[in-house]
Order: sequence, then structure tokens, then C-alpha cells
Amino acid sequence: MMAKAPIGIIGSSGLYKMDALQNIREVNLQTPFGDPSDTITLGTLNNIPVAFLPRHGRNHTLLPSELPFRANIHAMKQLEVEYIISASAVGSLQTGVKPLDMVVPDQFIDRTKNRASTFFGDGIVAHIAFGDPICPNLAGILADAIMSANIPDINLHRRGTYICMEGPAFSTKAESNLYRSWDATIIGMTNLPEAKLAREAEISYATLALVTDYDCWHPDHDSVTVDIVLANLQRNAVNAQKVIQEAVKQLDANPPVSESHSALKNAILTSFDKIPT
Ligand code: ADE
Repeated sequence: MMAKAPIGIIGSSGLYKMDALQNIREVNLQTPFGDPSDTITLGTLNNIPVAFLPRHGRNHTLLPSELPFRANIHAMKQLEVEYIISASAVGSLQTGVKPLDMVVPDQFIDRTKNRASTFFGDGIVAHIAFGDPICPNLAGILADAIMSANIPDINLHRRGTYICMEGPAFSTKAESNLYRSWDATIIGMTNLPEAKLAREAEISYATLALVTDYDCWHPDHDSVTVDIVLANLQRNAVNAQKVIQEAVKQLDANPPVSESHSALKNAILTSFDKIPT
């Protein structure tokens, strides 16, 4: 019998495995949407079962545009995951949000193009509510976990708007300044399709955004390059693991109610009794 895990963790750039995982078993899951980014590692963190998936593959072989978002979320659903903690490397769009800081965003702006980010279509019409794309209760646990992890010299930002861009090239200065004029907080390339699909799959989802750079708008900092991102990834990965362990403990002790768990209740339009004949 396949082991199940109520808590799923999606690892960001730099976070390709969880060092504290015990009782490890790797599972290769097939989905109607192809293979997930990698095998999923089932294991326990402080005796609590979790499922870990490195978003870009363990050797970082997948571009953001190449990520099999639907397969990843489908695989989590097969494992009966109810909460996803999604780590994500991001650039900062605000002076007060520094590299190594952590942000728990509450909003997204979609700047992706042509990503498959719905399970619906092909005869099934549904529109999930997405005004609050992040589960506030899970986000609260994540933010509290950042505080309890007690990591020196980093700031926690309990809310913020995450611009999700297509990439793989980083933004132009004009784009970066446009996003700043929108009052956006951080920029990354992955979390919005994940959050949408998780909502459609009735999984509660929150993002742990790990700041690596100031994108390209800051007059006193070099424009982002892979080297700048890499310089902070390692420390971010160590910090993220501490936070995730804390969050998993809090989540297990007090699993929050989430509206995401019944997201489809009022979302499906295709139905014989709703369509007038
Ligand atoms: N990931 C990390 N830094 C980023 C940036 N500046 N833009 C987009 N994605 C990022």
C-alpha cells in the first residue's frame, strides 16, 4: 500500500532535499499529466509524515516554463496531501525586503504566459474562487514558524504581493519599476500556477518566499544574475528547512480549517441540473 502524507513540501531552487527527513521512501507516481518534476520522497520530520518534491528536479534540470505543475499537484493529491508548503526563491521589489529575508505573500499577480494552470476543460467547466489565493490559516502557521525558528538577522514579512513572471530571463528595469509602481513586494517564476492548481485540487497552499536579490531596480545593488541568486540560495535553504520543520510541527499539532478544502463546492458549472434545457 502506498504511504500517505497530509503535508506536502515543494522545494525551491537550492532546496532539493530535506536533511532531517527520516524513514525515507521514494515514490515514482504517474499522473494523467505526465511525470512530476522528480520522484517524491516520503518520510517523517519529527515523526510527522510528509511528502517532499524538488520543484525543478533534484539536479535543477527544469526551467520554470517546463515545470509539470499539473503532474506535481496531481501527485500530491494522490498522496492525500491536504496542506502544501511551497518554498520559492524570489527577488525583492522593495527597499525594506532584504536578501535572506522571508516573505509569506498573501497575493499574486500573474505575468506568466501559456502555462497549463487548470485541471478543467475538455467538457468540464469550473471557476474556482481565487480572490485570496493563499490559505490565510496555513500562511499564519508559516509566519509563526518563521518567528519560532529564531533565525538571526532575517526579517519576516507577513504579507506581500508576489509577481509571477514567465522567465527564464529576469525582468527589464522598466518591468521591475512597473511592478514596484503596483506596490508588489517580490518576484519569482513559479508559485502562481501551483497555487491555482492546489486550489482546484482542494489543497490548502502557502508560499515561503526566500529572498535572494533586489531584482534590477535598486540603484545601489547590481542587477540580479544567477551568481547573485546562488550566493544566497545555500543560506536560504538551511533557514527554510528550520522554518519548515517548525511549521510541520505546528500544522500537525493544530491542523487548521481551510476553505481551500471545499473549493469546488461552488465552482463547477457543467452539470445537467444547472444548465437550462
Ligand atoms: N528568483 C529569484 N530572484 C528572482 C528575480 N529577481 N526575478 C524572478 N525570479 C527570481
